[in-house]
Amino acid sequence: MKTAFCIAAILASANAFVPASRPAFSTKVAAEDFLEAEPYFDQSTVPVNTFKNKAPFTGKVVSTKRIVGPKATGETCHIIIDHDGDFPYWEGQSWGVMPPGTREKDGKPHSVRLYSIASSRYGDDMTGKTGSLCVRRATYWCPELKADDPAKKGICSNFLCDSTPGTEIKMTGPAGKVMLMPEEDPSTDYIMVATGTGIAPYRGFIRRLFFEDTPAAKAYKGEAWLFLGVANSDALLYDDEFQEAKKKFPENFRLDYALSREQTNKAGGKMYIQDKVEEYADEVFSKLENGAHIYFCGLKGMMPGIQDMLKGVAEKKGLDYDEWLKGLKKAKQWHVEVY
Ligand code: FAD
Ligand code: A2P
Repeated sequence: MKTAFCIAAILASANAFVPASRPAFSTKVAAEDFLEAEPYFDQSTVPVNTFKNKAPFTGKVVSTKRIVGPKATGETCHIIIDHDGDFPYWEGQSWGVMPPGTREKDGKPHSVRLYSIASSRYGDDMTGKTGSLCVRRATYWCPELKADDPAKKGICSNFLCDSTPGTEIKMTGPAGKVMLMPEEDPSTDYIMVATGTGIAPYRGFIRRLFFEDTPAAKAYKGEAWLFLGVANSDALLYDDEFQEAKKKFPENFRLDYALSREQTNKAGGKMYIQDKVEEYADEVFSKLENGAHIYFCGLKGMMPGIQDMLKGVAEKKGLDYDEWLKGLKKAKQWHVEVY
């Protein structure tokens, strides 16, 4: 059974992202309910587009930390941004970031890039005054140079990954309601499928369900099942937190990884996330039949493979895939945010 989480372990885990210059959690913490709706699952007040392009919010970076090992393919950073409580959001939403500077082609300001928020609404420090992003630095591999070409690197992701404490970030949003958790029924099962930085919203979900002492966490008695696909073990994201949640709530949290360059699928090819989900297809289908919500976040490229896999399973079960999918969408059990 799910019991109250040991706050000390969670605070220790959250403090891993708190720089030495900021006060760590005091022993006396405020009740973890000051950002809840009434009742907590009422979504009629979810903030959307509070700040727009013409009048963006200015946040300040608290810390920027590389969170992958040396053998990861690329660099991914966890960035904590201070909004002083003035830019509330819910788990599953995104922030827009307007990188400084102008475009070379027409001298206009760079456009907004969206980033899924990786913390719960309370932030990693439970103050309700910060939010975190999980950003992969976009680089450009030049086949002729046989090296990265810095002139073609991604503008916004490099700005964010190079940010330091105090860097000002112009932000918009919060955006999106597609990835919200329907919290009304606390026994709802969640199936969360991610590639790479697609983990971001789920980190927020998992903190909300298992790391906090909110009314939502106290009530939750379903099963949250995370599938994460990354290249190798060095590229895993937030594994320490997920292991902790698994240890504390073995009956409520499940974790499966697809390590594409370390594992092989049943056909001997790369272990992609759709292959890992397929291994549990019967359970996944029966959970969905019983009302579970399924989420996909990360690489756009995973969706065709996911759909093919689900279609194959549905056909083997004698189900009409299109009808099956239509039913899930109609019941709002199907959530996709890919980029
Ligand atoms: P850009 O400057 O926009 O460049 C895009 C790509 O083009 C880069 O790979 C760059 O190297 C390449 N490029 C640049 N110039 C050239 C050239 N001349 N020739 C060829 N290639 C070139 N990303 C995350 O990391 N984490 C998230 O949580 C996240 N959440 C998202 C949520 C949503 C809803 C959406 C829509 C997107 C999300 N993204 C996320 C993606 C993010 O918005 C950006 O698209 C991403 O960071 C790349 O932006 P950039 O400014 O760094 O790259
Ligand atoms: P790989 O890079 O080995 O092809 P990224 O590192 O770009 O964030 O990607 C996260 C994971 O998604 C990696 O394991 C990557 O595998 C995998 N991936 C790449 N393309 C697809 C795809 N079409 N379907 C599913 N997973 C994919």
